[in-house]
Amino acid sequence: MDEVTAVPDSVAVIGGGRMGAGIAQVFAASGAAVSVVEGDESSVAAARQRVADGLAKAAERGKLAEEPSVVLDRVAVFADLARVPRDVALVVEAVPERPELKVDVLTRAEKVVSESTVLATNTSSLSIAELGAALREPGRFLGMHFFNPVPASKLVEVVTAPETGAEVTDSVRGWVRALGKTDVVVRDSPGFATSRLGVLLGLEAIRMLEEGVADAEAIDTAMELGYRHPMGPLRSTDLVGLDVRLAIAEYLHSTLGERFAPPKLLRDKVAAGELGRKSGRGFHDWS
Ligand SMILES: NC(=O)c1ccc[n+]([C@@H]2O[C@H](COP(=O)([O-])OP(=O)(O)OC[C@H]3O[C@@H](n4cnc5c(N)ncnc54)[C@H](O)[C@@H]3O)[C@@H](O)[C@H]2O)c1
Repeated sequence: MDEVTAVPDSVAVIGGGRMGAGIAQVFAASGAAVSVVEGDESSVAAARQRVADGLAKAAERGKLAEEPSVVLDRVAVFADLARVPRDVALVVEAVPERPELKVDVLTRAEKVVSESTVLATNTSSLSIAELGAALREPGRFLGMHFFNPVPASKLVEVVTAPETGAEVTDSVRGWVRALGKTDVVVRDSPGFATSRLGVLLGLEAIRMLEEGVADAEAIDTAMELGYRHPMGPLRSTDLVGLDVRLAIAEYLHSTLGERFAPPKLLRDKVAAGELGRKSGRGFHDWS
């Protein structure tokens, strides 16, 4: 198969929230016509505004080759999934992280698009094989795990289930590169590559803090300067949100075992409302 060097002509994104708007933005900026499907009519305008805001920001930073309005003209936002063009090459699902909701929109999308359309989910934690099991053709389904904020993030984890067709994986890897991003292929497993390693490091840093090995600033500085991590594990937990990290840790604990058991300090901070940057305080002070 020839290597794909361009994004598809036509893409659909289901869910125009934080991630979906970013995904729509990067595909449209690379030349694709993008259909964004929202949950109901009342959410359509906000989703369109999120894409417009993202494009304006990209233009300000000199990252857009065209006028934002020209790129936005390639983006259609609507609430009726049946309006997705049949010939889209790719559908990326980015609705909230609830399995029954994801299965619902994916199975409905499968009925609307052609047999050759690739279906992808942006789930950060759910099993690709379990979501795919609800589809008529799980061979055309995989995970495309984008990072937040999508336009600035270089990585997309391409998550493959045993059923995923090799040519589907190849196409998606080519599209990721055509977006100017880097793909890593990861087998469907809890936490994929990024959450599994990132969360483990964060949990160990919290245990070190609990044990009084060093204070938060010292632990973060140790990794930033000693190992050249762009951000220490506690600062990074503050940015992600302690509540979000706790939920992922609980899931990984239940699937991968004791090494992911959430430390008491993490639970206590979440219970106290110290959720990181968004609440003004986590392991560091952000006020
Ligand atoms: N936020 C992150 O940092 C991040 C990173 C990677 C992956 N993810 C994953 O991406 C997905 C979306 O996360 P998000 O942060 O963008 O959430 P979000 O809440 O910002 O966006 C979800 C969007 O889906 C819409 N929606 C709800 N029901 C719908 C339906 N039936 N049909 C169409 N649209 C519907 C909502 O109106 C909303 O705009 C989740 O699976 C999440 O785990 C999030």
